[in-house]
Amino acid sequence: MDLGLQDRTAIVTGASRGIGKYIAQALAREGCDVAICARTASDLDEAAAEVREEGAEVLALPMDVTEAGEPERLVEETYDRFGRIDTYVGNVGGNRRGSFEELSDEDWEDLMDLNFMSHVRVSRAAVPHMREVEGASICYISSIFGRELGGAGLSLYNTTKSALISVSKVMAQDLAPEIRVNSVAPGSIRFPGGSWDRRVKENPEEMEQFVEENIAIERFGRATEVADAVTFLCSERASLITGACINVDGGQSQSLI
Ligand SMILES: NC(=O)c1ccc[n+]([C@@H]2O[C@H](COP(=O)([O-])OP(=O)(O)OC[C@H]3O[C@@H](n4cnc5c(N)ncnc54)[C@H](OP(=O)(O)O)[C@@H]3O)[C@@H](O)[C@H]2O)c1
Repeated sequence: MDLGLQDRTAIVTGASRGIGKYIAQALAREGCDVAICARTASDLDEAAAEVREEGAEVLALPMDVTEAGEPERLVEETYDRFGRIDTYVGNVGGNRRGSFEELSDEDWEDLMDLNFMSHVRVSRAAVPHMREVEGASICYISSIFGRELGGAGLSLYNTTKSALISVSKVMAQDLAPEIRVNSVAPGSIRFPGGSWDRRVKENPEEMEQFVEENIAIERFGRATEVADAVTFLCSERASLITGACINVDGGQSQSLI
């Protein structure tokens, strides 16, 4: 299947490791040039070299996307380098656990800035450029815990991930017909150095039980499996799909909608 991504340009935030790096590699494999960012320049350079091995041009911009002006710089430097922006994959995100009563304004503002506002800001800056091309699309990396409860201490994470799904559906209406907007909801994704990998190494038996009880396909998801779903959603082959949130979770989620 030709995904029609040859010679297009994508921005992927938080792509020095983990899911973001695999997404950048998958897009590059399809012939897409990629702009990537993360805070740690050395890790980002290593990731950029890996993405280049797929045959793509890569622009690697070390930055903290929560700092004022940085989302806009990411977009402008990408446009200056490649002359077009077809796709934005809003991947950057993190977690801050705590009970609702303990979490401070600062906690809320910090995680909203990282998991939600960074994507709003990059998207707002990118949309005028995306309107210049045919078949532009945005894809946010949410979580199954943006769709349903995911255990204790996740009020902040769940709220930011639900907000991403919500805004993507509103944007799909606002930006149609020129730009499609979707989100992906991964379940528990294990990759070397990631949080699930760490937990498996620390508590192998507990994690084995977790998988058995929670994931229908009886294994963790792979970052490549999320990357493949995102690449498809950003492609011409997904031209009828907008305003959707796709679970990529091996049957982990329990929500009926
Ligand atoms: N892993 C899972 O099981 C899972 C499940 C559901 C959803 N998700 C979502 O998928 C996305 C990726 O998850 P992941 O597990 O791959 O994350 P990860 O391993 O923690 O990687 C996060 C990436 O974002 C960068 N980053 C973090 N803060 C940043 C900032 N302020 N500015 C710029 N870059 C920043 C990191 O590099 P630096 O630290 O150098 O900045 C790194 O490249 C997240 O949105 C996460 O919520 C993950």
